[in-house]
Amino acid sequence: MSFATVEYEPCNVRLLDQTRLPGELVHSDNRTVEELVESIRLLRVRGAPAIGVAAAYGVTLAASLAARDGEGAAGSIERAIGQLRAARPTAVNLDWALSRMERALHRLTREGAADLHAGLLAEAEAIHREDEKLCKDLGRHGAELLPDEATVMTHCNTGALATGGMGTALAVVYTAVAAGKRVDVVATETRPLLQGARLTAWELVQHEIPVTLICDGAAGWTMRQRRIDAVMLGADRIAANGDTANKIGTYNLAVLAARHGVPFYVVAPYSTLDLSAASGEDIPIELRNPEEVKGWRGQPTAPEGAEAFNPAFDVTPAELITGIVTERGVFSAPFRESFLRHYDAPAGE
Ligand code: MRU
Repeated sequence: MSFATVEYEPCNVRLLDQTRLPGELVHSDNRTVEELVESIRLLRVRGAPAIGVAAAYGVTLAASLAARDGEGAAGSIERAIGQLRAARPTAVNLDWALSRMERALHRLTREGAADLHAGLLAEAEAIHREDEKLCKDLGRHGAELLPDEATVMTHCNTGALATGGMGTALAVVYTAVAAGKRVDVVATETRPLLQGARLTAWELVQHEIPVTLICDGAAGWTMRQRRIDAVMLGADRIAANGDTANKIGTYNLAVLAARHGVPFYVVAPYSTLDLSAASGEDIPIELRNPEEVKGWRGQPTAPEGAEAFNPAFDVTPAELITGIVTERGVFSAPFRESFLRHYDAPAGE
């Protein structure tokens, strides 16, 4: 089955509504920047690269609305960039895509472009196409790490639903399978919003790749009971020293993987690197509504009066990471040196 996670049509950012999966395959139409910000906050679109792509189209949407309403375009587009940037704090891909759109806006304005919408749409499409290509490269490099018959444990959702292409860690699985390897996947359900159960299991079933779902708390025991060749998962922001923010529960898996001698790989494109963050200490962690922990789709699963703590992400220290798979190959510690060999240092360094 093929589906588009994010699409753009004039005056509409169209999303596959991920809050409704796996039960319903329905779209969410976002015809204002405010609607798109809400969709990002509610995780109708989620996954670090995918929210970057959606936000880039959001800037294009702002340009088309300004042209329609005859508003001062540059000012209202800048305002939209600010609103979108504040939608979620941890995934740096959001900020990366918006900064790129902002640079395009400044260039177009400087050049006196007659049609800002067309210029910004071209940039958003370039971000989208680039992400597609990055996913393929990640898949190719990561697949080389897997034996011909492999069991991969993964967390959250890192597939086509999370990116503008085929995925990050799941791209590795898809590429390895396409190359003739036999891969089965152990997917954690990923509490509290169940991206593993609802989205990863759904994607893998569509691809007819064997998937076994486990409760998050079963990961350690599963590593003891079954051969797991690698833990492979994505990232929302990687600091210069390799510390990696990803979906809450990633750190638990890294500790368990170290305890059981399982290689632990992060798979992410350069748009997830934040070389201005020296370490995980500099990564903002999104705290979400505690009600997400205390209930599911409006039904309470905990008594009223119980407190809940709901960080959406955690930071895995670099020392627990075997390798970081990027579009330029697989990096190992010391990560800072590897990154600086391949990527520009942020201004000021
Ligand atoms: O809250 P989410 O669902 O947006 O969190 C997503 C993740 O943590 C993913 O693992 C990460 O963005 C990598 S996606 C390719």
